[in-house]
Amino acid sequence: MRLSLRFIIPLVIILSLIGYAVVPLVDTLTYKWFIRDIEIRSKLITSTIQDSLIPLIRESSIAKFNRLFNRIIKDERLYAIAFCNSANRLTYKTSLLPSNIICSPQEYHNKIINLPQGDLHVSFTSITDEEKNYGQIILIHDLSFVKRRSADTKLYIFYFFTGLGLIISLITVFIAQLSLRGWIKGLHAIIRGELLTLPKAKNNQGELNPLVKDLRLLIQELETDRKVRDENQIEWSPRTLKDVLNKELLGDEVLIVSNREPYIHVKKQDKIEIQFPASGVVTALEPIMRACSGTWIAHGSGSADKEVVDKNDHIRVPPDNPSYQIRRVWLTKEEEAGYYYGFANEGLWALCHIAHVRPTFRSQDWMQYVAVNKKFAKAVVEEARTADPIVLVQDYHFALLPKMIKELLPKATVITFWHIPFPNPEIFSVCPWREELLEGLLGSSILGFHTRFHCNNFIETVDRFIESRIDKENSTISYGGKLTAVKHYPISIEYPVKWLKSQNSIEECRKKIRDMNNLSQDIFVGLGVDRLDYTKGILERFLAVERLLELEPEWIGKFSFIQIAAPSRTSIDQYQHFDSDVRSLAAKINKRFSKDLYQPIYLKIEHHEPEQIYEYYRGTDLCFVSSLHDGMNLVSKEFIASRDDEQGVLILSQFTGASRELIEAIVVNPYNIDQCAAALKLALEMPSQEKRNRMKSMRSLIREFNVYRWAGRMLLDAANLRKRSKLLKKLSDVETLS
Ligand code: G6P
Repeated sequence: MRLSLRFIIPLVIILSLIGYAVVPLVDTLTYKWFIRDIEIRSKLITSTIQDSLIPLIRESSIAKFNRLFNRIIKDERLYAIAFCNSANRLTYKTSLLPSNIICSPQEYHNKIINLPQGDLHVSFTSITDEEKNYGQIILIHDLSFVKRRSADTKLYIFYFFTGLGLIISLITVFIAQLSLRGWIKGLHAIIRGELLTLPKAKNNQGELNPLVKDLRLLIQELETDRKVRDENQIEWSPRTLKDVLNKELLGDEVLIVSNREPYIHVKKQDKIEIQFPASGVVTALEPIMRACSGTWIAHGSGSADKEVVDKNDHIRVPPDNPSYQIRRVWLTKEEEAGYYYGFANEGLWALCHIAHVRPTFRSQDWMQYVAVNKKFAKAVVEEARTADPIVLVQDYHFALLPKMIKELLPKATVITFWHIPFPNPEIFSVCPWREELLEGLLGSSILGFHTRFHCNNFIETVDRFIESRIDKENSTISYGGKLTAVKHYPISIEYPVKWLKSQNSIEECRKKIRDMNNLSQDIFVGLGVDRLDYTKGILERFLAVERLLELEPEWIGKFSFIQIAAPSRTSIDQYQHFDSDVRSLAAKINKRFSKDLYQPIYLKIEHHEPEQIYEYYRGTDLCFVSSLHDGMNLVSKEFIASRDDEQGVLILSQFTGASRELIEAIVVNPYNIDQCAAALKLALEMPSQEKRNRMKSMRSLIREFNVYRWAGRMLLDAANLRKRSKLLKKLSDVETLS
């Protein structure tokens, strides 16, 4: 309304002024017309009275003249009338004839004279017949009526233009209002990225096409600009990540939420020790937090965690060089059992991994899952210093959290990353709370998976169970008035790796690994590094070792396999069974092939610190990653990063996200034991140059696509989204103004 008034008032004023400017022109023209009329009139009067006048002139009858003149003078526009005889003498006149009018036709004919009583028009017309010229009749017209009419005309013209202005502006405002609504709708859609894909026919804002085109280009440029910057940015490092935060996000606040914390304080005897958990999520996110200096909200699960925090449950980390803080959230035993062990790990973990382990869903676990998600949402609100932080929600423990955060902090940008595979709709439909989980995730502004394939599974699952609008081309889902971009961001590790700084040379590592395990120095050593989890294909790996020794007995005594397995989720039955399965298979194979000091499998079910693991990576000949299903698998990337000698061979399951990128690995199907055994043989016999070629290529990929780039891409996308929503906000301000 305010906008309309701002438009109407100036338009009306402008048109009124135009009207006012036009008046003098119209005035002059009409004045001329009136004068011409008067001249014609004068001639008409003269010719009408001529016949009656000539006899009177001949008679020279003053009385008759006076009578005739008095009759004519009744005409309201005639002011005076007079007659000059042929000798130019004024012989008859009416009373009002101005005294300065004399019988001088040349001087006065068709002249306008200005007298105090007003303007008068004087005309002289000869009275003649065939015989002679009798004289001139003087007709004097009063021009005051012209002035009166002109004043009226001015007023009418002014009213006309003002009225016209009002009508035009009202019509314009009406049409503009209609169009504006269309525009704003269109612009909203464009900014949300929807119109970019609409066919032209559907785009009914015809008259706005140029604007729409411009906007589209602008947004595409924004997009391309980002991509170019992203793709060309070769050296992604903590510094580039910081730059993104400062320049693109203007130093906005970043919060991370994950179940697992990056530093766990545990009590050992009377001392407090710090542990780095065996978690892909932590491995990936810790370097980012160091770069961004935000707050990491996580479950305080360590036995000494409570002892080291301040009154707000904060602790600054890393311990040697604090650069960010952890906010620990405390869970009761019941909460941990229901939310973490129950719903997240017996339910969702089993559901999302195709490892043929049946998921278990219990109502009481679900209730704890909801309650704990709420608890973390509250913690996010408590930690947020601003109304619009960027919240990075991690993994399947927090499927409900994005929606909850959005309800509490509507301006927050929630980026959720699902680190494990996402199943297809059939499999997901097994979960009794599938709709709630999907709705929760759709609270995210960006929802990330490692692979395009898992994005597609998610989109298809939403399509099956939720009433939403899906744009497959742009990979966005519009639900409840909010847009979620579903994107794939293959996660990676930090590069260069901080743990490598303190490492010995490859030769020293090789020696140390062999010495520590009582292995002879010339033995070939294979390595597996995992959490002790049924999805990791550890049994299949052992079976492949067994098969190799069966098929190629010359490797007996020459090849051993070291399996590092971090105990994980040990209170879950399936994990306990798996633990014993792994132990007994290793024992069985060892029994079968051990000879003297030789042992084929070394099983180390215990926690190892990252430095120790990197020592193993560097000191062994091959790394076998045989996951039955894995979102990404960062062990494969860590192994490559550790091999600055460009030696070592990676055998990689085709069911890991990493196999999409690390194509120079020996890619295997872990269910095909013979193929895996053949892969082991190939790796053991691979010429050094081939190892170098493969390793070189994989190392350059990891150098280029490190974890900073992974996070940077998400943060750049978040920055883009925030810019878009600012644009949308401006548009809705326009809407409100209008
Ligand atoms: C996987 C999950 C992570 C989890 C990690 C370790 O990588 O995606 O979210 O943290 O396993 O599991 P844990 O249950 O010990 O945290």
